[in-house]
Amino acid sequence: MTPERRERTPRWTREHASRIERTDETVAPIIYPPREAVAPDVHGWDTWFLRERDGSIASIGGWRVIFSLTAPADLLPGKRHDVAEIRYFYSREGETWHDGGPVFEGETRGSRQWAGSALLDDGEVYVFYTASGRVGEADLTYEQRLAVGFGGTVEADDSGLDIEGPFEHEVLLEPDGERYEREEQYRGMIYTFRDPWFFEDPADGETYLLFEANTPVPEGEGVCEDPVWEEFNGSVGIARSPTGDPTDWELCDPLLEGICVNQELERPHVVVRDGRYYLFISSHDHTFAPGLEGPDGLYGFVADSLRGEYRPLNGSGLVLTNPANAPYQAYSWIAFPHREELLVSGFFNYYDLGGLTLDDVATLSPDEQLAKFGGTLAPTVRIAFDGDRTRITGTLSHGRIPLESEELPALPEERLSHREETRQGYGGY
Ligand code: FRU
Repeated sequence: MTPERRERTPRWTREHASRIERTDETVAPIIYPPREAVAPDVHGWDTWFLRERDGSIASIGGWRVIFSLTAPADLLPGKRHDVAEIRYFYSREGETWHDGGPVFEGETRGSRQWAGSALLDDGEVYVFYTASGRVGEADLTYEQRLAVGFGGTVEADDSGLDIEGPFEHEVLLEPDGERYEREEQYRGMIYTFRDPWFFEDPADGETYLLFEANTPVPEGEGVCEDPVWEEFNGSVGIARSPTGDPTDWELCDPLLEGICVNQELERPHVVVRDGRYYLFISSHDHTFAPGLEGPDGLYGFVADSLRGEYRPLNGSGLVLTNPANAPYQAYSWIAFPHREELLVSGFFNYYDLGGLTLDDVATLSPDEQLAKFGGTLAPTVRIAFDGDRTRITGTLSHGRIPLESEELPALPEERLSHREETRQGYGGY
């Protein structure tokens, strides 16, 4: 990475991140298990919607479709990333989701598929995903490439919806080693080149793919005050399609970098409102650089154009996090606009931990580990946003994706502060 490029790329700085704190505006209410999981036989986590080119949620015969990473429900939750498979679910009212089964049949790219996004373009379904490892590898590897399955179609009638193949698979992008680190260059904990997110810029109709990556920072370059922070080099990557064809991409310089701040800027995505670009990522408490503290949360940045200059929302970037007494209850959030509000969908992660860390959970018996993992959709969170500020105002039920025409219940005058809610007895949590 050249010093000039580093100057130009918008940054999430240590100064911004040093302001991160849980506040009433940013802490989501506590989550309880849903009455029914979406699909009892599988655990689901990262989820995305089938969207049109303009980013709106597609509706096919009145049905909407979501895609989730899934694994058998009896597998240890910590092992799920090793076997992840993309399934789809469909719903009319956006509350009860029906399992449509695995999206792909036969060989895909990678030994397993990680998160992505999905586009319905002229009746054709494009499922962008992370090809993790290589097909047929004897031992799992962590190489990641951005891939797509395309050529699928979707059929719907009053009884349900079917996504039909055959899908053709292609690897779209691999890291170049200059703007985006290759696996062999990586010195940190968890290598990333993943989570492709399709985005069409309403300003000029240009087509982009956002993704999570790492910026190469040669050892001892002195970019951070302490060299060890240089391993904390997460970035939001971006590629442009010169033709608008969703299978044709060229890498561009990153959109945002968190060098010396955080290793993982996960599942980047953008919401445009009133000419402002809201860029969101998810990140973990354990991926912040030494000297910084931030919880598992949804972090956001705002700019007047897609390429920035991005300012962190609420001064620090923190938009949504879990309560301090249930710090891992949800993760992997996706924000989407609904009328004047922002809604945020995530998955129900580890709960009822009674102060255990995630490392502690891994030492519990298999039954206990399974009992503490949600593995399904979390309650949808409502957020008011205005300029650089956001404020959590309430929640909807688990997995709720309201129709665009739907008016949401009026907000209570004032939400109880999270401290108050916590005091009002969230027993086992
Ligand atoms: C976020 C995430 C994604 C990745 C997936 C793998 O929860 O780390 O970045 O694609 O999980 O399961």
